[in-house]
This record gives sequence, C-alpha cells and structure tokens, in this order.
Amino acid sequence: QNNAANTITDSATGIVFNTWGVPQDSAQSKGGWTFGVALPSNGLTTDATEFIGYLQCAAKDVKGWCGFSLGGPMTNSLLIAAWPHEDEVYTSLRYATGYAMPDVYTGNAEITQIRSSINSTHFTLVFRCKNCLQWDQNGQTGGVSTSGGFMVLGWVQAFPSPGNPTCPSQITLEQHDNGMGIWGAVLDANAANPSYSAWAAKATKTVT
Ligand code: HEM
Repeated sequence: QNNAANTITDSATGIVFNTWGVPQDSAQSKGGWTFGVALPSNGLTTDATEFIGYLQCAAKDVKGWCGFSLGGPMTNSLLIAAWPHEDEVYTSLRYATGYAMPDVYTGNAEITQIRSSINSTHFTLVFRCKNCLQWDQNGQTGGVSTSGGFMVLGWVQAFPSPGNPTCPSQITLEQHDNGMGIWGAVLDANAANPSYSAWAAKATKTVT
C-alpha cells in the first residue's frame, strides 16, 4: 500500500480524505481496500481526538469483513471491525491483548455514520470516530499524534461473514483470510479541512 497519501473527494458527501490502500486487482488482498482520514481543521498542528473515516472493503455477495488498527499492530491498539449485512454496514470497536478474538473496547470511543453503500463486491462506509485517537482499555493506554503528520495503521480483510452480524458486541469471527499488514500513513495538507465541523455534524446515524 501507498505511504504518501492520495487525496479523494467522496462525491456523495463532498468530504475530502487522505487515503491509502491496495488496488482491486492486488495479489495481496482480493478486491483491494481503501482507508481514508479527514481531520479537524487544526489536526495537523494540534493532536486530534477524532476523525472522519472512509473505508471501502471487499466482500463477496455481501459476505466478509475488514478491520483497521489505529495503532498499527492488532494488539494494544484500538481496532475497528466493519461488515455488511443486508442493507447496513455494521461496526464494532475492539481491543486485543493477544492474537485471538479481540474484546469489545470499553473506552469512550464512538462511531456514528454519515453514509454507507453495499454492492456485490464491496462495501463503503463514511463515519465519524469520536474519541478514537487516544484509547484506554482498562488502564492500558495508547494513541495517535496527528500533529506529527504521520500515523502507523494496520489492516486486515476477510471473506467469511461474522456470526451474530446484527449484534456488534457479540460477533464471532474467524481469523482473517484475505491479507493483512501494517503501514506508515503520511498525512498531507489535504487531511485537515476547515469544513470538518460541518461534515462531522452529518454523522447522525447509529447502526447497532
Ligand atoms: C494479525 C489472529 C481478529 C487486526 C493477526 C495475526 C494473527 C491474528 C495470528 C498475525 C499473523 C501473522 O503475523 O502471520 C486473529 C484472530 C482473530 C483476529 C484469531 C479473531 C478470531 C482481528 C480483528 C482485527 C485484526 C477483529 C481488526 C479489527 C489485525 C491486524 C493484523 C493482524 C491489523 C496485522 C498486524 C499485526 O500482525 O499485528 N491476527 N485476528 N485481527 N490482525 Fe488479527
């Protein structure tokens, strides 16, 4: 995946994202993936506590899930798992201390959605992640410093759907089977935008 960011404007919302990913025909991950970040207007000079995320992940006939680690490794980082089910994209904030099914995250992070879409090969979610850039799982703390202009992130993709898909706190997962990695995500000036507050205000939908 790229380290220097690409910049995209999500045509449905007008939100501008720095993005990283692998292409759809990649051997590393069938169907590819894209992860994007938009930060508050001062996010490149003052550490942000939240972001607007863009994710597009592969799924076969609406089956599959993807995950992102906001710290890089699977362990000791805030994790976001996302999967499509019927006409919704569900998410679950998780935390793992070992390489086994991650626990439900118990800190105060919160995802609200701006838009989602699903087709036979991919699902897309644009979401606000509040209190997601510093984490605390029962006293184990960590975080991301956006003012450094650089994040270490992790990704995984998988094709079997979660069990209990409509109940994010009770999903069951098999170990991911469609690629994984850790990458350095370099932020550029397009990552932070004066419209952030207006965009974040559109994140009114909760899918639970
Ligand atoms: C890597 C197991 C769920 C994110 C790994 C590795 C194992 C593993 C064994 C290391 C593989 C290697 O280095 O060859 C599992 C199992 C899961 C699970 C058994 C559930 C039953 C998740 C979830 C996420 C996630 C839900 C994110 C939402 C990652 C990431 C990596 C990884 C980002 C690559 C970075 C690293 O090696 O730390 N996983 N995982 N995993 N996993 Fe998971």
